[in-house]
Amino acid sequence: MNINHLIPSGIRKVIESYTTEIKKLKERPIIIAIDGHSSCGKSTLSKDLAQIIGYRHIDTGAMYRAVTLYLLRQEIPLSDPTQVAGALNDIRIDFQRINGANHTFLNDEDVEKHIRGLEVSSHVSEVAAISAVRRFLVEQQRVIGQQKSIVMDGRDIGSVVFPEAELKIFMTADVDVRTQRRYEEMIAKGSKESYDTIKANLLHRDHIDSTRSDSPLLQADDAIVIDSSTLSRQDQLNKAIELAVKAVG
Ligand code: DC
Repeated sequence: MNINHLIPSGIRKVIESYTTEIKKLKERPIIIAIDGHSSCGKSTLSKDLAQIIGYRHIDTGAMYRAVTLYLLRQEIPLSDPTQVAGALNDIRIDFQRINGANHTFLNDEDVEKHIRGLEVSSHVSEVAAISAVRRFLVEQQRVIGQQKSIVMDGRDIGSVVFPEAELKIFMTADVDVRTQRRYEEMIAKGSKESYDTIKANLLHRDHIDSTRSDSPLLQADDAIVIDSSTLSRQDQLNKAIELAVKAVG
């Protein structure tokens, strides 16, 4: 997907004025970790930033969602960590770019649509709290990150997966702004879920993500906070580009 039309002239000027630094980001590749709550714009920002600076974007939430989809389809009881751990051997997750968009593949099936539905959304936090699942996915994320040139978003990227990441961004936003975004996203996909159901689901996930014992969502000490409540997509991108440029020195 070409997002050039999203780049207003102000930001375009920023990019043009950073041509040398963006070149540096390519020559001296770094890891950019973007963590934060659900639906505060992490994936969109990560995608936009990766495209502008020529990095690969990895949405680690999609990996947890793909595992959840597999477990639900196989009717594996999520409350039984031993059975869940056993099932992980049969799961292979890949990403492919199709028409400019990242698609998540589960055992060679394009599951991008399936993993975004409310059923997976309702169970994914429970699955993400299982240590065996985290170990399984963190290992794969670290392998992907060996090549650097990566923008990876999630909940524990700056704190656990890549504590040495050159740039860590922690995103947050007002819960009603987040709910409205998710609601519009779901409606656009044909969902009939109410605003209140979506808000309850977000709050429930925030609670589980922040209170689980293994790698809870927390802001790394050296992370830079972006509150996206009142920032446009372009403003967020602009800020992230400046931070990436600074990080590369
Ligand atoms: O970003 P998302 O809403 O697609 O994430 C789905 C779930 O996965 C969310 O409840 C938190 C969890 N997750 C996680 O625990 N660690 C990550 N690195 C990414 C996502």
